[in-house]
Amino acid sequence: MCGIVGLFVGCTALSYCPKQLLAGTPAAAPDGAAGYRSPFRNWHERASVRQAPRRVLADDEGDRHYFSPDLVAIAQHPLVKELPPACFEEVLVQHLYRYLEFTARLEYLVVNRTVLGIARGSIGVHLPEEMRFDAYKMYCDEAYHTLFSVDLSRQVRQRTGIVPKETGEPYFLVRLQQILAELPAGDRALAEVLFVIVSETLISASLAEVPERADVVAAVRSTVRDHASDEGRHHAYFATFLRHLWGQLSPRERRTAGLLVPRLVDAFLRPDLPAIRLELAGYGLSAADAEQVAAETYTPGIIGAHLAATSRQTVHYFQSLGAFDDPAALDELRRYGMVA
Ligand SMILES: [Fe+2]
Ligand SMILES: [Fe+2]
Repeated sequence: MCGIVGLFVGCTALSYCPKQLLAGTPAAAPDGAAGYRSPFRNWHERASVRQAPRRVLADDEGDRHYFSPDLVAIAQHPLVKELPPACFEEVLVQHLYRYLEFTARLEYLVVNRTVLGIARGSIGVHLPEEMRFDAYKMYCDEAYHTLFSVDLSRQVRQRTGIVPKETGEPYFLVRLQQILAELPAGDRALAEVLFVIVSETLISASLAEVPERADVVAAVRSTVRDHASDEGRHHAYFATFLRHLWGQLSPRERRTAGLLVPRLVDAFLRPDLPAIRLELAGYGLSAADAEQVAAETYTPGIIGAHLAATSRQTVHYFQSLGAFDDPAALDELRRYGMVA
């Protein structure tokens, strides 16, 4: 995945996504080492952890923002635009903090648990040895994404003096825990793996925009670019991994997976409206104004369109394996608005 895409629901600046190029790349055949073309074959020359410099805030970047207002959904609303300039800038800085914090936690709490299981062979999926070895590279990538997210957050805090708002447990983790708690114990490991596949293959056009935004400080743009570049390899890997996994699931597990995927996508992407209302109140908006901003920014139509667009490729991967051939799974896909 290339960050916490659910934070970017409702952004207006969606034009292109370089990862769509990858989406057209056929996945390697899931039939042994001979069919596996590693997305990590140039990893030592390309990976951010191996090649990219530390991204450091420049001394003076004029009136550049710490995040582009066009990419922060609530910053589009007139009631937020009317906030005093310092307060409006804090809206952007807090969005950056949240993005970095949630990215860090997703990597080390969720993704790397599964990635290490793949590398060590403890996940119960037989893979070509090369694929398991690649998982160690991904493990390094995700650990570095955590490090550079925390590093940048600390730099911005030192520079601006703005203290990150306490966000509590990220919404996607709370929702994942709820889903896991409702499942029979025997299905939880599968759900966790599916959640990682989903989060690593969603495509966010909003995040792909960040490096192109001249109104954003260079260190933020470079950090997002570094991350997106690494995640392109991860996306290709997990598209292949899914085919290996699917080939080894029983018919019952496939039915379970088909039913779970739409819910997992929704858990990852749907905005956390209570937290957004609370944050808005912290900028001095009345409860009624905060409600109005949240309701008008995140209409059911906007949320639905974002979910459908961001999950299209992921849904396609599962669909091509027959995951939604079961009418109940197709109903779930429809219920979450991910298919017409
Ligand atoms: Fe990452
Ligand atoms: Fe990743």
